Amino acid sequence: MQMKDLLRTEDLSRADVELLLSTAADFAKDPTKASSALAHKSVAIYMSKPSTRTRLASETAVAHLGGTPIFLRGDELQIGRGETIADTARVMSQFCSALLIRTYAQSEVDELGAHATIPVINGLTDYDHPTQVLADWLTIREKFGNEIAGRKFVYLGDGNNVTTAWLMMGAIMGAHVVAATPEGKWAPDADVVARARAIAAVSGGRIEILHDPELAAKDASVLYTDVWMSMGDPEAERKEKEKVLAPFAVTEKLMSMGAKDSIFMHCLPAHRGEEVEASVIDGPRSVIWREAFHRRTTIQAIIYHLVRGELNGAQK
Ligand code: CP
Ligand code: NVA
Repeated sequence: MQMKDLLRTEDLSRADVELLLSTAADFAKDPTKASSALAHKSVAIYMSKPSTRTRLASETAVAHLGGTPIFLRGDELQIGRGETIADTARVMSQFCSALLIRTYAQSEVDELGAHATIPVINGLTDYDHPTQVLADWLTIREKFGNEIAGRKFVYLGDGNNVTTAWLMMGAIMGAHVVAATPEGKWAPDADVVARARAIAAVSGGRIEILHDPELAAKDASVLYTDVWMSMGDPEAERKEKEKVLAPFAVTEKLMSMGAKDSIFMHCLPAHRGEEVEASVIDGPRSVIWREAFHRRTTIQAIIYHLVRGELNGAQK
């Protein structure tokens, strides 16, 4: 069935991901390869949370496709004064060919998707970060190629939106993915783990949840981390969270336990000295700038294929 929106990472099939990565690789070589795809069209980029990469990537992606990006801040729309999400979706559909949204609740993105007649793309919610993980996997592919059997892809940190994306995409790709998190309230959501395992059961992937960072790092091809305090996390929990997450920081020592050709990844923004040592993120194994570069190539591919109705979505 044709997929209208990209609301969650798990909405994508393996074939969709392959198509998106292949097109993004083309857009990496030639950003203007489809420079009239959005001629005389506009794409709304609607954000209720801060962003550096996703905003830059989306605006440049639309420009390279020949369209006009329209950036909208959540607090400047009538939605802040009580206009419904459904009405906002219907209005945006009159003017734009697609909408990328960054917000808090996943339900808001789902509701926009349900009422908009244009493709809606999740540019990060508290639950998921699908556009990020596509950039991550293009970076992984550039480094390791298609042959990922025997490789382990490890995320270290709290169970958050990036963890959801990491587990779901690993499951779709048939990879061995690990989330190394504290136990308890900062572990990944049990429902996310169960659904990732169900996808992995079909794809041949393996989903491991560990609470020992050294065990997780052992022979890993990728060590990936994220900020400890996500946008919207309660400040009152900062001290406790920093203490519980300290053993999961990606240090030189942890990196040395990985595979010989291991790489360090981070969705950014980073806090050196917290979730990662400066010498790791700024060191030779770090691929963070290529990863950031691919935010544009992958978002460009997502918009291109969604607007053309060329993604089919996962079987549900
Ligand atoms: N990685 C990422 O989404 O970055 P921004 O928050 O800067 O968009
Ligand atoms: N987990 C982080 C990701 C930022 C790109 C957050 O939600 O703030």
